[in-house]
Order: sequence, then C-alpha cells, then structure tokens
Amino acid sequence: MVRLPKQVRMVEVGPRDGLQNEPAPVPVATRIVLIERLAESGLSAIEAGAFVSPKWVPQMAGSAEVLAGIRRRPGVSYPVLVPNMQGFEAARAAGADEIAVFAAASESFSRKNINCSIAESLERFRPVAAAAAEAGIKLRGYVSCVLGCPYEGEIAPAKVTEVAAGLLQLGCYEISLGDTIGVGTPAKAQAMIEAVAARLPRERLAVHFHDTYGQALANILAVLELGIAVTDSSVAGLGGCPYAPGASGNVASEDVLYMLDGLGIATGVDLAALAAAGRFISEALGRPAASKVARALAARTSKSVTA
Ligand code: HMG
Ligand code: MG
Repeated sequence: MVRLPKQVRMVEVGPRDGLQNEPAPVPVATRIVLIERLAESGLSAIEAGAFVSPKWVPQMAGSAEVLAGIRRRPGVSYPVLVPNMQGFEAARAAGADEIAVFAAASESFSRKNINCSIAESLERFRPVAAAAAEAGIKLRGYVSCVLGCPYEGEIAPAKVTEVAAGLLQLGCYEISLGDTIGVGTPAKAQAMIEAVAARLPRERLAVHFHDTYGQALANILAVLELGIAVTDSSVAGLGGCPYAPGASGNVASEDVLYMLDGLGIATGVDLAALAAAGRFISEALGRPAASKVARALAARTSKSVTA
C-alpha cells in the first residue's frame, strides 16, 4: 500500500501564470480582488504577478500596483516572478515578500522565454539570489519543460536534475518542476521525480503541471506517491505560457483540492471559498471555468436553486 503525504501545500499561480496568457490584460483592480478572494479560501501562497519586461509579457504590467493594492493576510505569502536584477529591484521596491526565478531544462525554451542560455540564466540569478538573501526575501525556483519542450521535444531527466541543482545551490528554498506544455504522463513524471530526488532533497521539490493533455491530476497523484507534498495550480484552470505555443492552463486548483480532500490529505483550503474565487475571475473574463469540479459545483447549486 502506497503511503501518501498527510499534508500538501497548494501554491496558487492563477493571478500570475493564469493571467499572463490572457489575450487582453486584466485590470489591476480585478487582479487585486482575485488575490484577496483566493487568500480568503485559506491558501498560504498566492503568486501575485511578475516583474518581467512589459514588452515581453504586457499582461503582467502593473504588478507593483497589485502588490500595493492587496490587503496582506498574516501567514500568506505573495511571490512574484523575477528574471533579473532589474526585476528584483522593482519587486523589492514594491514590497515583495517572496520572489521566484525561472530557468528551463531546454536551451531553446530558455532563449525564447528569457532571451539567454540556461547557463547565462543561472549566472543572471546569482546576484538576484544574493540580494534577496540580504533583503530577507524568500527565493523559490522554477525549472520549465521538465517533461517536454515545445521546440526540442523530449527532455532528459538528467538535464532537469542539473538545472534544479543549480537553482538549489543559488539558495532557492524550493524548486518547482514545471510541465510547461502539459505533455507528461504519470510514469514519466515519476521517473523525472526519481531522477531529481536522487540528487536533491525530496522535501525541497514541488510540481507544476499544466493540463494540456488532461494528465495533470494523474501526474500529481503519481508524484504524491513518491512523497512530493507541494503542488502549484491555478484557480479555474486559468493560464498558459506566452512562450509555449499550445500550452493550456495549469491544473485547476479546485480539481486538485477536490482530489486531495477525497484522499483525506490536509491543505487548509476551503473548496467552496476557492470555487467562489474561481467564479469571480471566470465572470470577469466572461467564460466558464476550465475546472470540472467548479462546473459540477455550479450545476449542483443551480439545480438546488431551481428545484
Ligand atoms: P531582454 O530583451 O534580453 O532584456 O529580455 P534586456 O536586459 O536586453 O532589456 C531590454 C529591455 O527590457 C530594456 O528596456 C529593459 O529596461 C527592459 P528598453 O531599454 O528596451 O526600454 N527590461 C525590463 N523591464 C521590466 N522588468 C524587467 C526588465 N528586464 C529588462 N525585469 C527578459 C530579457 C528576461 C527581461 C525578458 O525576456 C522577459 O521579461 N522575459 C519574461 C518572459 C516571461 O515572463 N515568461 C512567462 C513566465 S515563465 C512561465 O510561465 C513558466 C512557469 O510557469 C513554469 C512552467 O510552467 O514551466 C514559471
Ligand atoms: Mg507555468
């Protein structure tokens, strides 16, 4: 019998990964309300924005205003993406309590996404990591394309391990392993985790699945079986990556939570409140949530209202 973790930390990435791919930028005021609603659900980490070039990702412009506008709840962190020192200085000035640097396990993706090689990106993050440590700002790291790349196809788990180890060495407290284009399947996800965990402490690893091929929940369950206890997700299944053509949204937070609740795994997050945050942003965007759980809950509510 496989033992699953008793507790899982859910990292909400909807306001960043979700909204960075919207065809039209979402107003700052809407982003602020979304983050506050998410915090009300009991989530303890909500990625709030990105201090990247607005020419590259216009949807994340205004992240400083977002950080300034939210009422911060005690015990909740609001990480933001930072690609370089310029982003770090802006994030620090905006009062960021946590930042995330992002590298890739694919050279081509690294160039398309942040305009430099993998090795150059790690060098670029070195002063960022030092400055964050100096300022007492927590540092998380991402590795993208861990189960496949839109430009290179298959990615070797050894490459993922090498980049993750580089980020850990810089001082990241946790490395989030991203299936950026959602091509992974459970056995592959397990093999990748086993490879990385052979060199890095398992408790420092998180997963970040996009749901392009509908495999994300199966992949999460597969890696929970290996002791991974942190998973990123996006409310209403928002999202994608502007530099990963065809990538769909992250796995929906409501779907992840429903599964974890069903497994008796503690998260501290309330499904009804999370679904309400999902309804808020879905209405603001004018389309239904991509979360099956959100749709099922909505159908149940409307039936009981009309019954
Ligand atoms: P570059 O063009 O090589 O940068 O872009 P540069 O240093 O040569 O500067 C060029 C211009 O950008 C200058 O402005 C700089 O001031 C400005 P100009 O003189 O032309 O007016 N600039 C900045 N502006 C604001 N904030 C900054 C910044 N840095 C430079 N931090 C750069 C390099 C990294 C900036 C660019 O490629 C970039 O911003 N990329 C971000 C791409 C991105 O955000 N992708 C999505 C997030 S990653 C993701 O979604 C994956 C993840 O979810 C995990 C997964 O799913 O796998 C995390
Ligand atoms: Mg992502």
